[in-house]
Amino acid sequence: MIITIDGPAGAGKSTVAKQLAAMLGFDYLDTGAMYRAVALCGLRNRVHWDNPAELAAVAEQMQLRIESGQTFVDGEEVSDAIRSADVTEKTRFAANNPAIRAMMVRRQQQAARGKNIVTEGRDQGTAVFPDAQCKIYLTATPEERARRRVREYGQRGVPADYAEILRQINQRDAGDMAREVGPLCEPADAIRVVTDGMTIDQVVAQLAGIVENLT
Ligand code: DC
Repeated sequence: MIITIDGPAGAGKSTVAKQLAAMLGFDYLDTGAMYRAVALCGLRNRVHWDNPAELAAVAEQMQLRIESGQTFVDGEEVSDAIRSADVTEKTRFAANNPAIRAMMVRRQQQAARGKNIVTEGRDQGTAVFPDAQCKIYLTATPEERARRRVREYGQRGVPADYAEILRQINQRDAGDMAREVGPLCEPADAIRVVTDGMTIDQVVAQLAGIVENLT
């Protein structure tokens, strides 16, 4: 069985997808990590970002492995490195690159073959697994996502400006939705879950209930 979870940045997809997969005994695939890993390699190889073929060649050559929520590039664990601000900023060059998307979509489909899997991203229920048995669109208002981000920063003792964070969230949403290949859009046959005011546990329980009703 394939369960897709798509939605905008900061909706809590990763945490929820990971916990749901663990609860069901399914594999978990973080497809954002794949685009982030390409951006990391681009930075390390000092690619010219205005030359899409150069980044595509880097993506072609890199050895990418995603295992139990950890990301490895050429044998090195890069799970933390791919979350840096630099990588986050450059990931759009990987995500907007049609040749790279084709490569990643193929890998995602291979990773799911014959498996029970929860896969999370922007295009999983639309472009990658249009026939998935269970499609979730997980979202929250930009204001709620900005409040959560400010809280996270606060817990780490990092000062954060709510207005600036909200601006960045709106900018990322617009970029994700405007992408010519694999844009973020709500699958017509997805169940929408709006997580404003909900805890992670409540969201996971709701999704588990949705899956149970489908099986
Ligand atoms: O979910 P995330 O923040 O780790 O995703 C990183 C970036 O990759 C984000 O800007 C959207 C993009 N992405 C994508 O285009 N397609 C996916 N399936 C997953 C992520």
